[in-house]
This record gives sequence, C-alpha cells and structure tokens, in this order.
Amino acid sequence: MIKIPVSASRSYNVIMQHGALDEAGTFILEALGLEEGKPHGKKLCIVTDSNVDFLYGHEGQPLWKSLEEAGFDIYKYVFPGGEKTKTMETVADILNYLADNRFTRSDLLLALGGGITGDVTGYTAASFMRGIEFIQVPTTLLATVDSSIGGKTGVNLNAGKNLAGAFWQPSLVLFDPDVLSTLSYDLKLDGVAEAVKAGFIADSTIIDIINECDSLEDDVFLTKLAGNAVKVKRHIVEEDEKELGTRQLLNFGHTIAHAIEKCSNYGISHGHAVAIGMAIVSAACDKLGWSKEKCAETLIGILNKFNFPLDCPYSPEELTEAALQDKKRRGSEITLVIPDSIGRCELKKIPVDNLGEFITCGVQELHKLTD
Ligand SMILES: NC(=O)c1ccc[n+]([C@@H]2O[C@H](COP(=O)([O-])OP(=O)(O)OC[C@H]3O[C@@H](n4cnc5c(N)ncnc54)[C@H](O)[C@@H]3O)[C@@H](O)[C@H]2O)c1
Repeated sequence: MIKIPVSASRSYNVIMQHGALDEAGTFILEALGLEEGKPHGKKLCIVTDSNVDFLYGHEGQPLWKSLEEAGFDIYKYVFPGGEKTKTMETVADILNYLADNRFTRSDLLLALGGGITGDVTGYTAASFMRGIEFIQVPTTLLATVDSSIGGKTGVNLNAGKNLAGAFWQPSLVLFDPDVLSTLSYDLKLDGVAEAVKAGFIADSTIIDIINECDSLEDDVFLTKLAGNAVKVKRHIVEEDEKELGTRQLLNFGHTIAHAIEKCSNYGISHGHAVAIGMAIVSAACDKLGWSKEKCAETLIGILNKFNFPLDCPYSPEELTEAALQDKKRRGSEITLVIPDSIGRCELKKIPVDNLGEFITCGVQELHKLTD
C-alpha cells in the first residue's frame, strides 16, 4: 500500500492499493473517524458516469458490497459523462437528487470515475448545504495522477473550461490500480501527459521513469508513476492551495490545451490537448531563448515514444482567440508556465497582446521539430 498524506485546509490521505475497492468501506470509515461495526446512519451517494457505473458501480460489485458492509445507506447518481455534461445543469440535477432523498450535512458523496466525475462531484459536494464531505475514487490514470488531489472542482461554461468552481478538498482519495485494466491506450496516454507535466515542472525523476518504460500495460510502472506525480501535486498544493502563486505551475501547457479542447468542441481529450499545449509552449520558449535548457526535443521525444498525436488542427489565430477567454488571464496580462530546464518551470507574465505572436512561434517551431 502507498499512503501519501496531504495537508491542506482539510488533511487527507491518498491511498493506492491493489484491491482497494473491496475494502473501500473500511478505508472511508477510517477517513471519517468512524468505528467499524458501529451504526452511523450515514447516507452515501456514489456519483459516476454510465461507463464506469457498468464496470464498477453496480450493486453486488466489490465497491458497493464493501460500502454496504461498512453500514452506509447507499444511493447512486449516474450521468452520461464527457465534457458536454460537465455543466451546471448536471450539478443542479445532483443537488436536487440529494435534496429529494433528504441528504443532510453529515452525509457524503463518492466520486467514482475520471476527472470529469471528480470535478462535478467535488463541486456538488462544495455546494450542497454549503459543503459536505466527499471521497475521490479515481478510475482513470489522469484522475489518479492529477485531478483527484488538490481540491480543484468545477464545471465548464459556454465561454470555456472550468470557469465555475470551488476549492473543496476530499476526505480521502482511494486508488485501486486494478481499475486501469479496463482503460484504453488513449485514456492511459491522457494520464501520461499529466505525469509528464508533473515531471517537467518539479521532478525530473518522473521523466526518467517514463523513459525507462516500454509498455503502458505495466501496472507496476503506472503505479510508480502515479505515486511520484501525486507527490509533486501534494507538494505544490500544500504550498499554495488556492493557486495564488506556485500552483499556477500545474497549468503548464493548459492555456493552449483549454483552447484546443474548446476549438474541437471537446472532441480532443484534455490529456491529449495538454500534450500538444506543452509541446507548443516548449517549442516557443526554446526559439525565444526563454528556457535555460532546451526542453522541446526531450518533451517531444517522450510524447513520440507513446505515439501521442502532436498535430494541432487549429491555426494560431483560432487558438489565440479561444485562449483569450481563459480564466487565467489577469487584466492586460496572461501568465504562462515556461520550462526553465527539465524538472523546473517558472511563471512568466506576458502582455495579452503578445499571446498571438507567442502561439504562432510555438506552432511553427513544433512543425519544424516534428516534420
Ligand atoms: N480538478 C483538477 O485539478 C483537474 C486536473 C486535471 C484535469 N482535470 C479535468 O479532468 C477531466 C479529464 O479527466 P479524464 O480524462 O479522467 O476524463 P473522464 O472523466 O471523462 O474519463 C475519460 C473516459 O474514461 C472512462 N473511464 C473512466 N474510468 C475508466 C476505467 N477504469 N475503464 C474504462 N473506462 C473508464 C469514462 O467513462 C470516460 O468516458 C477534464 O475535464 C479536466 O479539466 C481536472
């Protein structure tokens, strides 16, 4: 078992263990400070998308059985999933479902799924009766290495990604590596992209681990990767929970990634968009001499090793227009995350008016490096 404590406005553990779903009830009781075998009368609503529900959310499956044995009164809310349902409407539906079933402030939610389920459930938990506890049970690699930790929750608005949300920490993050067996190669790649991000911003050993890996089928490798990436995220969140400074480093590649997601009407996944976003930024920084060490070639080498599609189907103008709606924009400036060397990134503010030029430079350089 790997146990990584996170100390933020709420302190909690990230637990990684094979077969964790079979023991979820026990882990949750412990996280809530409840004694096993004693009646507690708590309601627990599993929130999940329809794919994950089919795989892991049904009555009679290990998670449900374990929660039942731990004495929870179990409810379940299933939504279709996907970025198009990461909306206020979904949150409102879940809030109404909880109210209709007389949930109280002492009841809880459990997010079973990827980053979308986690973000939606967390935001609902932050809103219901001004805040109830929730548990993250990530089932994608991306959610495990990144989104389930740190308490950023939220939904998309028409104007862009994650424009409404709250900081709301879970009470426990419980990851069972066995769930990765049902993930497609592409979904694993999404997680690899966020792990590469963690490596570039704060821990070059993650890049070494990825370089040594030959197959994404290797569970031991994926768990090791997840453990290291979680430690990076833990460290950053503990330093700057509300994203006033250092935490912005986690947005490496994200201004462009969010623009790509939006331009593709969410047809390109978050992880794949992050990979392209990081490649464009690194290529531009190398060309402009903003990085101490040239990073783009190493980054592209890793992404190519896993056959990440790095062609950006949108023009610099389209990307710039979409990026200008990004919430990270502050007044007349925009904060970019710049790779300084492998394992170290910095924040750099540039005038909003220069963003188009920066993106154009990155797209052109990326073409040269990948041709
Ligand atoms: N809150 C944060 O700090 C943070 C950080 C990074 C990303 N995010 C958000 O996370 C989201 C992306 O997360 P994601 O890629 O996990 O997306 P997702 O939640 O949509 O999951 C991707 C797909 O995988 C399926 N799936 C999940 N687990 C599975 C399993 N074990 N086996 C088979 N299929 C499975 C889902 O049904 C879904 O179709 C984006 O909305 C992004 O903005 C949030």
